Amino acid sequence: MPALARLCALARDAATLRSVHALLNWDQETYMPPAGAPARAEQQALIASLEHERRTSPELGDLIAACEADASIPADSPWAALVREMRRDYDLAVKLPASLVAEIAKTASESTEAWKAAKPRSDFDAFAPWLTRMIGLARQKAACYGHAPLGEPYDALLNEYEPGMTARQVEAIFTPLRARLSDLVARIAASPKPPSDAPLRVKIEPDRQHKFGLFVLESMGFDLKAGRLDTTTHPFCEGLAPGDTRLTTRYRESSFADALYGTLHEMGHGLYEQGLPKSGSLRTPDGETIPLAGTPLASAISLGIHESQSRLWENFVGRGRPFWEWALPHAKKFLGPALEPYAPDHLYKAANIVRPSFIRVEADEATYNLHIMLRFEIERALLRGSLEAKDVPATWNRLFKESFGLDVPDHARGCMQDIHWAFGLIGYFPTYTLGNLYAAQFWEALRAASPNLDEHLRTGNFAPLKSWLNTHIHAPGRRYRAGDLCQRVTGKPLSADPLLRHLEGKLGPIYQL
Ligand code: CO
Repeated sequence: MPALARLCALARDAATLRSVHALLNWDQETYMPPAGAPARAEQQALIASLEHERRTSPELGDLIAACEADASIPADSPWAALVREMRRDYDLAVKLPASLVAEIAKTASESTEAWKAAKPRSDFDAFAPWLTRMIGLARQKAACYGHAPLGEPYDALLNEYEPGMTARQVEAIFTPLRARLSDLVARIAASPKPPSDAPLRVKIEPDRQHKFGLFVLESMGFDLKAGRLDTTTHPFCEGLAPGDTRLTTRYRESSFADALYGTLHEMGHGLYEQGLPKSGSLRTPDGETIPLAGTPLASAISLGIHESQSRLWENFVGRGRPFWEWALPHAKKFLGPALEPYAPDHLYKAANIVRPSFIRVEADEATYNLHIMLRFEIERALLRGSLEAKDVPATWNRLFKESFGLDVPDHARGCMQDIHWAFGLIGYFPTYTLGNLYAAQFWEALRAASPNLDEHLRTGNFAPLKSWLNTHIHAPGRRYRAGDLCQRVTGKPLSADPLLRHLEGKLGPIYQL
């Protein structure tokens, strides 16, 4: 078998193992009984070491080198991109010792269970030793990856999630964004005419919310024969395998919008997973046809691009006026009489209320990014060693007061609210704001290319939007890096301006600024 075909076969095997690991995670977050946790940690550690063994096999290294030396692969072809991305993954994987990979997987699983038990009691002391261990492991991982000559440990971890991006680049984008967002939030807080949130406070049974969620998913083009929607405490999407994309959400009777927007968010991730060419195939220069499943050409570019897809559906579609013109009559049917007194404009304005609050995942579009900047600052200090895990609550509460003007009432609504640090996802938070920025920039390009977009959305015709995303964002897989894709699709490098234009343009009229 020629090198390219064998390389893709190995990529498929590695992806299959990864999907087994992801299924164990999905099950742990949805249906696993708590007493199964110790055995689950063993299962995850074993699978993680098998995955690592495959990802670092000498055969894989030899095949990548053979393909790099193969002059018959044109430099600008998808195949060259595939080899480039497999080189990147391989070079990162071989830097991590197998023992560290297994230790991280096992500790992350135990630490997540400790966080789950401690969070409802706001018991930071019970969680602190686990946070210390997870930070220690993250620092070890960063040291293995390396960040010389000018970088810092944070870069090594961020690079896993957002290839090539550095903490300095993030800081350069965040600093002006913070200034303009803080100004906007302050002007909104001083507005004499805030919209009413009454339509979002009606009580709706979880079962009705679930049925409405499924209706919205189907209407927007999420394939439920190739996916599921389940409940969890910390919603996520897992693109497990070709034909199997799992969405999760959570329901609260007193706040149906949380589940609706959470579902739209995860659906955006899910549409990306379903839009990747996982069932596609491509002819090699030798004339052989190779399936793309499991290869970089059928995988997501970066977490920032992934998040751009969730934000686009959640905020740019779901918090738009055309969406509510379409959705409200259906919502009244599925959710019952509580919404009867309201018109689309009430829902549109209520869904765009800006109000500083404690919980990131429930934050509005404008304050959301301030939550991310706070986490970025803390993570960076933890990795540099200028902050210790035990001092996280005090630092968190101080920074929160500075950014939001609020006193954090307890750790569950403070530094213990997110699963990320417990699970070892350190260096991950900035990708959420990068996602917001990419979404805004893609949305501007999309609007310029589709003058009838609002009319389509108002009439529930989501196919043209989904198809634009399929073609421009999903189909290329990892053919381009995030910055290159942004340049190709929008004609410009990533900038904070489209997001600020979007927020100021929408919130100004709503708050009569
Ligand atoms: Co997301």
